[in-house]
Amino acid sequence: MVGLGLLPAAPAGAFNLARSEKANKKVLILGAGLAGMNTAYELGKIGYDCTILEARNRAGGRIWTVRGGTTETEIGGETQTCRFDEGLYLNAGAARIPHHHQLTIHYCRELKIPLEIFGNFNEAGFYYSDSPKGALANQRVRAREIHADMRGQLYELLVKANDQKALDLPLTAEDADKLMTWLREEGDLNPGKHYAGSERRGYAVRPAGGTQAGEIGPAHALKDIVESGLTHPAFANIGEYTYHQQPVMLQMVGGNDYLPRAFAKILGDKISYGCEVKELRKTQPGVRVVYLDKKTGQTKEVSADFCVCTLPLPILKTVESDLSGNVKRAADFVPYMETSKIGLQFKRRFWEEDDHIFGGISKTNQDITQIFYPSYGFLGQKGVLKGMYNFHDRANRMGALSLAEREKAALEQGGKIHPQYKTEFENSFSLAWQKIPYSKGGWAEYSKSARERMYPALLEPDDDIYFAGEHVSHLTAWMAGALESSRRVVEMLHKRVSAN
Ligand code: ALA
Repeated sequence: MVGLGLLPAAPAGAFNLARSEKANKKVLILGAGLAGMNTAYELGKIGYDCTILEARNRAGGRIWTVRGGTTETEIGGETQTCRFDEGLYLNAGAARIPHHHQLTIHYCRELKIPLEIFGNFNEAGFYYSDSPKGALANQRVRAREIHADMRGQLYELLVKANDQKALDLPLTAEDADKLMTWLREEGDLNPGKHYAGSERRGYAVRPAGGTQAGEIGPAHALKDIVESGLTHPAFANIGEYTYHQQPVMLQMVGGNDYLPRAFAKILGDKISYGCEVKELRKTQPGVRVVYLDKKTGQTKEVSADFCVCTLPLPILKTVESDLSGNVKRAADFVPYMETSKIGLQFKRRFWEEDDHIFGGISKTNQDITQIFYPSYGFLGQKGVLKGMYNFHDRANRMGALSLAEREKAALEQGGKIHPQYKTEFENSFSLAWQKIPYSKGGWAEYSKSARERMYPALLEPDDDIYFAGEHVSHLTAWMAGALESSRRVVEMLHKRVSAN
């Protein structure tokens, strides 16, 4: 029928599972994050009776957009309520979508959620190295200056080495010449094969109308760049190079929670909010789950033919269960990322007005690690910056501070890059994922040995209990990982039911 034009072709990424009489099964899903809701959505399409228990009073899990009025209390922390102005937001969890994450984009298409460019890589961003020595230490330097000057000087070294016959190249003389020509082009070397600065690094005096031709600033010496700490991993160019962060990246217009909100709207009362899972039991066949209904304070039970458990592992390990030893071991030992963020509202978009930065990131070796500039609301009056996004020890240090101390530290550190912080700051909202209830971590951070030894237990059902979530994928820390994992479980479960 597709061939005859009687049916539209299924859109890329659509699931073509046949509805089956046998699908008349009850599936209990733990967690209304992307994996849980996608499982219910897709299984529901082919006839399964799905219900979801969600501990929070919102859907989305780590796809969480903070806006004015959002309230959160960290574990052992104070309650904070966001005071951002209308229209301003912080993607506190998932923030960026790689252009090749097909399922994330597929569901945005299917649920009619518009996407826009997320500026991840911006040559106008700043690098700030907090360092005891070096001519470029403790000052902001545009990323483009470092990139162009490093490339130019390193390529010059290679060309010189080749001229001195010091490169042992597996190339014919003719091909070595081609390579040298390429290096001279890529490094913007002058006819004397020297990198003497380049317009690529930007101008000290900008070109303008009339007689102002512009002046290119002198290159930063390789020695100064290195000595000042600008080769520290904090300044690694992952936003340009790595597969998952190469341009173009995308985000949902208005906040990335539009996707979980769309799923939640479709699923309606199939999701029970405020239900904290306490026990996960096997009834052979089937499952029984004991949970606390936080609305009434009552402990309740629900049974089903199958369970799809999407609880993050640090949460799963707190649930009493009949799970296998291997699954329990994975829950106990797979490490999760510590990571913290702060949204800073400013009364003026000085990064755009004064510094010509529209989206993208500044980087520093201070604890805040990064500043993300919003990729929405350009030229507006106010704006919310992500004034910190860090990992591991830095996230732990920031996470251990009180909200007021975090705000102070973020303002002090970021203020070294943007002195405008002092006069333009209005309010903040911060979070450390390792302290967020029902998540207790940013994402599964598999070591090689955890991937080899723990991961396999999550890939197969443990009797009638299946596992999904970003931690059951090779796309950990991405929305696509959650979606890929849930589609896999839907397929496995449906195949099993259909075969019986
Ligand atoms: N996917 C996460 C990020 O984009 C790790 O930062």
